[in-house]
Amino acid sequence: MIKKGIILAGGSGTRLSPLTKASNKQLLPIHDKPMIFYPLSVMMLANIKNILMIINPGQTENFRNLLGDGSRFGINIKYKIQDKPRGLPDAFNLARSFINNDNVALILGDNFFYGQSLTKKLEKSSSHSNGATIFLKEVSKPENYGVAKIKKNKIQKIIEKPKKFISNNAITGLYFFDKNVCEFAGKLKPSKRGELEITDLINEYKKRNKLKFEMIGRGAIWSDAGKIEDLSNVSSYVKSVEKVQGIKIACLEEISLLKRWIDKKKIIENIKFYGNCDYSTYLKKIII
Ligand code: TTP
Repeated sequence: MIKKGIILAGGSGTRLSPLTKASNKQLLPIHDKPMIFYPLSVMMLANIKNILMIINPGQTENFRNLLGDGSRFGINIKYKIQDKPRGLPDAFNLARSFINNDNVALILGDNFFYGQSLTKKLEKSSSHSNGATIFLKEVSKPENYGVAKIKKNKIQKIIEKPKKFISNNAITGLYFFDKNVCEFAGKLKPSKRGELEITDLINEYKKRNKLKFEMIGRGAIWSDAGKIEDLSNVSSYVKSVEKVQGIKIACLEEISLLKRWIDKKKIIENIKFYGNCDYSTYLKKIII
């Protein structure tokens, strides 16, 4: 079982500058909510209630103002500062005492997942306790991503930003790891660009024949929101789904209420916290 999760919500956000000059990327809006709500909702849907949020220096107050210690959503959030972006696997060096030899999930703070059968796949992956699971999604420009070549339903090769086509299955920013992850991450060396690379970490599991994958099918979408165009596309997507269906994507209180982690009384308190806004109107609707 995986009961702990890390959200990487630091980084430099250079590609979104000047938006990220005064604000952290993960606190920018995706339509009607801060970006961080979306990866947090994925963790909650995977039944993960213990979260470590990795953030940049100077950001604790901002994140605390928004999310507190997680109790408003029936979960537990702790914060850890990363003094500079050393790459994604650095999460496991920083989170060593939080992980404490347990299995753990990792999601990137700027990743958006939504759609059919995702919850089932998340629940399935978080119930494993051996090896690693990565989530793959077909993309039109694989040269921009880490990709996995699949043969006979097994991962044959993992390559970071391949110059020559090997596969269009991109590795998304959601990973489930067993308790060996800290040991493997501790041995990684920075790549040519000076960062620890997640593909190197995943390859440690592959070498040992311990790497599994899930495909995010056609009925679901994945995007990172690290570039202006992606940020605006994801925002438009959320806006249209919410408008047409009258539901909200990544309403943290709704997920928590469904899982019985909070009750209606807590939601009434949260409505007071948010004040008179569209999000509160939705919260009022779900407790009728
Ligand atoms: P990236 O998008 O790879 O990097 P970035 O956020 O620094 O943005 P840019 O490339 O535009 O400068 O990061 C993916 C996610 O991981 C993002 O949500 C930020 C987070 N991150 C950290 O928290 N620490 C890190 O060391 C890195 C590299 C990323």
